[in-house]
Amino acid sequence: TTILIINGPNLNLLGKREPHIYGSQTFLDYLKTVEPLFPDVQLRYFQSNHEGELIDKIHELGFTVDGIVINAGAYTHTSIALADALSAVTAPAVEVHISNVHARETYRHHSYLSAKCKGVILGLGLQGYELAIRALTMSNEQVPV
Ligand code: DQA
Repeated sequence: TTILIINGPNLNLLGKREPHIYGSQTFLDYLKTVEPLFPDVQLRYFQSNHEGELIDKIHELGFTVDGIVINAGAYTHTSIALADALSAVTAPAVEVHISNVHARETYRHHSYLSAKCKGVILGLGLQGYELAIRALTMSNEQVPV
């Protein structure tokens, strides 16, 4: 089983970016704690601040991986192109947000990606990524399609 984790703009700054909202752990440190939880899952990780690079990665791996965990950062709220990319590929996706976007500015309340995803996890901190991996790697009987 292979799962692709995609982080969008500004998420390279996790650990030093607004730690009161996003925590003080870097994503790579967090990933090191996640890998041993899923010994049978190969995790691929990609981060970019560029919309087109995120789309290219979805095209490149979205027909072969078993699932995509995507936190598109602010592109969540703006990018029809990213939503189209998720529709185009075959891998199911789960959208993750570290913060509870519904408790924040109204411009964060709408996501172009949610309708293209199997599910959405938000407001639970970095832990949301492991919950998303868990959901994507569960057998179909456990999660209604
Ligand atoms: C975020 C929420 C977005 O609104 C914001 O632009 C981000 C991070 C989150 O993980 O909480 O960059 O996706």
